[in-house]
Amino acid sequence: MAQAMLKLAHPGQPGQLSVPQTKVLAVKGLNKHFQAQNNVLNDINFDLYAGEFVAVIGRSGAGKSTLLHILNGSLPASGGEILHYPPDGAILDIARLSPRQMRRWRAQCGMIYQDFCLVPRLDVLTNVLLGRLSQTSTLKSLFKIFDDKDRARAIELLQWLNMLPHALQRAEHLSGGQMQRVAICRALMQNPKIMLADEPVASLDPKNTRRIMDALQKVAENNISVVINLHSVELVKEYCTRVIGIAQGRIVYDGQPDGLDEQVLQILYGDEIAQVH
Ligand SMILES: Nc1ncnc2c1ncn2[C@@H]1O[C@H](COP(=O)(O)OP(=O)(O)O)[C@@H](O)[C@H]1O
Ligand SMILES: [Mg+2]
Repeated sequence: MAQAMLKLAHPGQPGQLSVPQTKVLAVKGLNKHFQAQNNVLNDINFDLYAGEFVAVIGRSGAGKSTLLHILNGSLPASGGEILHYPPDGAILDIARLSPRQMRRWRAQCGMIYQDFCLVPRLDVLTNVLLGRLSQTSTLKSLFKIFDDKDRARAIELLQWLNMLPHALQRAEHLSGGQMQRVAICRALMQNPKIMLADEPVASLDPKNTRRIMDALQKVAENNISVVINLHSVELVKEYCTRVIGIAQGRIVYDGQPDGLDEQVLQILYGDEIAQVH
């Protein structure tokens, strides 16, 4: 297994684009080990810029989900730094936040999952409004009290992803693709700076897969950095502006999706290569 980084050029590198790039995160020397397993992530380094649509790829067990969970603060890093550059204010190290700062960070980090994680018995509109909970007082959230501004925003988001006709339907009656669009709306209720998605299309048919990828592309076009774990190299090439390839917990590729040639894919997937096209 080649451990060297193959390519470093990516759309976020200074001088490559005429528009100035806003750095959102700098991941430096990030390591992760679990008690039972050492070096799940090993010396991970990358910068993330506003509006990038980044795919994280690699074979099963490479460390992709672990990376996303460390970025959103739900797993602690074992070493290294994750610096967040807020538009106004001091740089924060996500790996070293107080519990209060961490709650604020997690509110800025929208996350969606393969299995959507909606509340099945609640209607679509309420599920979207639940995205506001991290910014709502405990009492209000207990009784699900949302103000008109929140409702207007939730309706606007549902309209944006063509889900408004389903607003009053229970979430459990939706198709998988519809559920995932609701989950994206819910994450956007937090006004996130970053949207993380852990295999968000893994359980969807091709038509719904495209709808979700289109939706995430729209999110990135709104200057939110989208980082998504994906299995399909075709989708990466069609939608993403950048790809980070991980093998055995190390970044072995960071660059343009066009650069994913057979040599890189062989390093990333080895004998699983046939399953990724
Ligand atoms: N909570 C955990 N405890 C111990 N090992 C874990 C835990 N979570 C993940 N791992 C291990 O870390 C490695 C990377 O897992 P993961 O990030 O889920 O990979 P991927 O998402 O790329 O399939 C795997 O070997 C997995 O078994
Ligand atoms: Mg995973």
